[in-house]
Amino acid sequence: MIPSENFASKAVREAVGSVFMHKYSEGYPFKRYYEGNYNIDDLEELAKTRAAELFSIPDDWSVNVQALSGSPANLAVYLGLLKPGDTIMGMYLPDGGHLSHGWSYEPKEKQNPAELKYEGGSRKVNVTSQFYRSVQYKTDPETQLLDYDVIEKIALDEKPKLIVTGGTAYPREIDYRRMKAIAEKAGAYYLADIAHEAGLVSAGVNASPVGIADVVTFTTHKTLRASRGAIILGRSELMKQIDRAVFPGLQGGPHNHSIAGIAVGLHEAMQPEFKVYAQQVVTNAQTLAKALAEHNFSIVSGGTDKHLVLIDLTGKGVFGRKYARALDYAGIIANMNTMPQETRPPADPSALRVGTPWITTRGLKEEHMWQIADWMNRVMEQVAGYDSELEFEDFDKRAASDKELAGIADEVRSLCKKYPLEI
Ligand SMILES: Cc1ncc(COP(=O)(O)O)c(C=O)c1O
Repeated sequence: MIPSENFASKAVREAVGSVFMHKYSEGYPFKRYYEGNYNIDDLEELAKTRAAELFSIPDDWSVNVQALSGSPANLAVYLGLLKPGDTIMGMYLPDGGHLSHGWSYEPKEKQNPAELKYEGGSRKVNVTSQFYRSVQYKTDPETQLLDYDVIEKIALDEKPKLIVTGGTAYPREIDYRRMKAIAEKAGAYYLADIAHEAGLVSAGVNASPVGIADVVTFTTHKTLRASRGAIILGRSELMKQIDRAVFPGLQGGPHNHSIAGIAVGLHEAMQPEFKVYAQQVVTNAQTLAKALAEHNFSIVSGGTDKHLVLIDLTGKGVFGRKYARALDYAGIIANMNTMPQETRPPADPSALRVGTPWITTRGLKEEHMWQIADWMNRVMEQVAGYDSELEFEDFDKRAASDKELAGIADEVRSLCKKYPLEI
């Protein structure tokens, strides 16, 4: 139930394991630095055409399918459009933003949670904060939602060269038109990173930034359910520089086997069944949020518009790290996560993140979400009874031999057997 994961079809996996793996093809279709690329050229063109069609790009937009993954795709956009030292403005990571949006930490002064701007710290853990100056916007402390008036104020004060939206743990839709208007006022490029929700956007279940933002990046292996990789869509005049940033700026030969898997996955995403799937992903996540709330779990922002649910565990006494491990012993794989107004360290944060893309691929529906919420609640009730002072290692040992958790794992296993994955 990790929201960034999914399980690709056999056809996608066969494409990834195909002979396309072996070929070097530095360059772009019909302009390669290696011979013998006729089939690779056709493959890359096919992937690009399918991406253009699936995401309905305007005539003056174009596509790059070569970036190796989401972070390199974002870096290629920065490298293509910015100069080292330029300011980028993204969402504060603990509130749900991504590392590749300029993350650094350990600010000089202790952070004031009420301060809605974050100027970074000395530990430039992501390359994007080493090469660029980064300022970040936070979510509103009350609503846990983006506050566009605050974002606009920060943008006008800071005059970033690029504003990026999107994140790993923001459960709500983003107002792309408003963000584009803010970027325009500030004189910035607008990059919409839809790594998580690309499949939902392609199916029309979430709104699309294509044609609104200047550039859109996304990974192909999350809700989109293709192979691992990334796609960049953007205004053609900018894509020239971005293409050059991908190759030769950041990489040599593209991973053609991944591009093959992406082409197959894009074809699958064009089928009517995928729209039904994407809608079910969201319905399942919304049902799960509701069912968890009925068990008195506090849901960040009160719900979700997407495929993920962020659970604030502060009222439960067992935080993300321990709870995620206990769930693992009960057969439910999720991940610990930070949340808005986080006060705990990233290695032991306050929240848990769960998602529905993979379990929906199995065929699970609303009724199963109630069952999963019930299991999650049983796990919480069980481990809340442990000594709260237990160190993580001792907690882990106790959970590993806990018969109640093992019993839940048996129940999970029998549900999964009824809804097998296509192997
Ligand atoms: C919003 C966002 N952007 C970029 C990425 C980076 O993708 P990758 O892990 O493929 O580098 C992720 C990954 O989770 C993400 O959530």
